[in-house]
Amino acid sequence: MRNNFSLESNQKLLYLISAFLEVENSSIETKLTEICVLLKKENKAYDWVGFYFSNHKRKTLHLKAFAGIPTDHITIPFGEGICGQVAVSNKNFVVDDVSDQENYIACDINVKSEIVVPILVNQTNIGQIDVDSNTINAFNQKDVLLLEQVNNLVGNYILSNNISINIS
Ligand code: SME
Repeated sequence: MRNNFSLESNQKLLYLISAFLEVENSSIETKLTEICVLLKKENKAYDWVGFYFSNHKRKTLHLKAFAGIPTDHITIPFGEGICGQVAVSNKNFVVDDVSDQENYIACDINVKSEIVVPILVNQTNIGQIDVDSNTINAFNQKDVLLLEQVNNLVGNYILSNNISINIS
């Protein structure tokens, strides 16, 4: 099953995400959670959506916001799993079938495919968005493009508002 995002619906999603980011008196964690909830709600193939942020000193990723079932994997060392590999490569990673991956961390046995896209701010990988699907082969270039655009909005917001994410 492929997702049903169209270019037009993506523009609406990005508009809503910009609006969430601009709401005054809400924390960055709240804004990121709202983005996760929206993306999950608007796409049947998105079963879990989360944002991890990097601690470059400790070389660990930290879960800061998500929508979907809670995971035990709130801290992931760089290099481990799909997320940890993206923390090192700084490149998008689309996994059509997670059972093909040797370096994979299972959060939920129902997950069949996954996409991870880094948040690049001034060429530094500050974190990533991670989407899991219970459908095999759920993600394509449209998802890559959408999630890159989401991360651009998040990265620009963090940069222009001098936001520091509490990573501990
Ligand atoms: N599957 C990920 C771990 C995070 S969970 O999907 C929430 C990975 O292999 O890095």
